[in-house]
Amino acid sequence: MSSELRTRFLQVYEVLKSELLSDPAFEWTPDSTQWVDRMLDYNVPGGKLNRGLSVIDSYSLLKQGQDLTDDEIFLASALGWCIEWLQAYFLVLDDIMDNSHTRRGQPCWFRLPKVGIIAANDGVILRNHIPRILKNHFRDKTYYVDLLDLFNEVEFQTASGQMIDLITTLEGEKDLSKYSLDLHRRIVQYKTAYYSFYLSVACALLMSGEKLEDHIDVKNILIDMGVYFQVQDDYLDCFGDPEFIGKIGTDIEDFKCSWLVVKALELCNDEQKKFLHENYGKQDAACVAKVKELYHHLDLQGVFAEFEKQSYEKIVNSIEAHPSKSVQAVLKSFLAKIYKRQK
Ligand code: IPE
Ligand code: MN
Ligand code: MN
Repeated sequence: MSSELRTRFLQVYEVLKSELLSDPAFEWTPDSTQWVDRMLDYNVPGGKLNRGLSVIDSYSLLKQGQDLTDDEIFLASALGWCIEWLQAYFLVLDDIMDNSHTRRGQPCWFRLPKVGIIAANDGVILRNHIPRILKNHFRDKTYYVDLLDLFNEVEFQTASGQMIDLITTLEGEKDLSKYSLDLHRRIVQYKTAYYSFYLSVACALLMSGEKLEDHIDVKNILIDMGVYFQVQDDYLDCFGDPEFIGKIGTDIEDFKCSWLVVKALELCNDEQKKFLHENYGKQDAACVAKVKELYHHLDLQGVFAEFEKQSYEKIVNSIEAHPSKSVQAVLKSFLAKIYKRQK
């Protein structure tokens, strides 16, 4: 990705934002315009932008090196921003539900004294911006209906994954025995893989005139990549540097069905299992520290390194089995962005 394309991508954000701010809903009330302006700047553009940039990246690889026109760059960027908007919407709400403190190196939006629970409605606004952007720029395209359907499907999948993630932590008697690799996979496939991996490539395919039902194999590979990505996220929640990843982990306190706790349960003896049951899912910092100590003792860092290696090899093999070289290039470029990531 050239720095020129990145700059152009960021310019498209300004265009989309100013279109949304000029909505008649905010006429006569400069406070509302200013609120949305500030809310967007705080929540939409501050991440790694991998998902958004991947639309342009994938589209240009699908065009096999042909130069993109200005119009194509704009449209691919606008779709990329729709994904970043979707992500902002989910993160604003996710941080409330997970009781998180920081995100992207700053306080979570709902933590700002002026914002608080208004953040819930801001999430709804972010979500509603997506069909407005699509209507403004894609209404006349043959693939418009497919785009709307794609965003709707992926939103449903993500919200369903979030739901399973959340209700799984409703304890009763805090039952860790239901936590398995299968349950973990179901959660992360839905809450992360569709919107973080499949969606960017699906947008690029639609823009290229492709039908999504002809690319089920690509979808399956991207889902595997998404699962791998969320295992990394679970790992970094405990072992990452909060300064560097920009957020403070809460999975242990929140009794999450994290990949780490599933692996710990697999490796524990009876005594360690009892210890884990006593300390997992407590807001108390001392309990969190005890869980982390057990993770170190079980060498989950080593177990993760092995998982990362095998998962990478498996994904590379499935990519190389794909018949199209340009699709292979799209998938490899995506994988390269996340392999051994530290943030
Ligand atoms: C949430 O997963 C994924 C979505 C926002 C849909 P996490 O809860 O693990 O995400 P982080 O760690 O807070 O970023
Ligand atoms: Mn979270
Ligand atoms: Mn996480």
